[in-house]
Amino acid sequence: MHWLVEYYRSTMGKKFVMAITGVLLFLYVLAHMAGNLQIYLGAERINAYAAFLHSDTALPLLWGARIVLGAALVLHILAAVQLTLQNWSSRPRKYAKVRYREADIAARTMIWSGPIIGLFLVYHILHLTTGTVQPAGTFAIQAGGHAPDAYANLVAGFRVWWVSAFYIAAVVLLGIHFYHGLWSWFQTLGWSHPKHNGARRALSTILSVLVVVGDVSFPLAILAGWVGK
Ligand code: HEM
Repeated sequence: MHWLVEYYRSTMGKKFVMAITGVLLFLYVLAHMAGNLQIYLGAERINAYAAFLHSDTALPLLWGARIVLGAALVLHILAAVQLTLQNWSSRPRKYAKVRYREADIAARTMIWSGPIIGLFLVYHILHLTTGTVQPAGTFAIQAGGHAPDAYANLVAGFRVWWVSAFYIAAVVLLGIHFYHGLWSWFQTLGWSHPKHNGARRALSTILSVLVVVGDVSFPLAILAGWVGK
């Protein structure tokens, strides 16, 4: 156990923890987006999916995923805060001109895109999972079940323009966050030769654009009236 703590204390150890937990969280968001595409197949289809997720069969799976992803999120944030503080304390202050040659926009935004995404996540769970926050004034539960009426809640929620605007802004930030996260992940894995930079950039772009396009399409389709007429 001791060597694990020692390893975590090193910069490399923290970066490794960020990479592993980041990929887990990314895979969750990708799968979540893919599951939500069922909204395009109609109310019955996405509500059957929500009912399955809340069924007795899936409950251990749901709680298993919540615990693993929750722990991943806590570790991801902890390592990020520690690495940032470490960076700040080792940076020469005087006469140091800030240069952004290496760090691109995505890298520089990580420090504030992270906390905003965290706030979005809290709002999102209170909005669509628990119904504690109800900007549309309603939170529907499926008839006879314990699962939320995901279709009705999504349509009512995203018809409120500022809710949609907040989701879209958060998802775009998340895309930028993922782009830099994936780019760093490939580097941590050792795929960092300058010869492969083009491929690394392309793969990081494709994967993050996929999540953004899928997730942004839901509020846009509802605002446009294509879903939930
Ligand atoms: C526009 C895009 C999104 C839509 C339409 C959407 C939709 C939903 C819905 C309907 C639920 C409730 C599911 C249920 O209780 O049956 C939910 C839960 C959740 N969503 Fe999203 N979501 C979106 C984006 C995101 C993003 C970007 C993240 C992560 C950064 C995320 C993370 C979660 C989490 C953690 C839960 C709670 C899961 C649980 O019950 O433990 N969602 N989402």
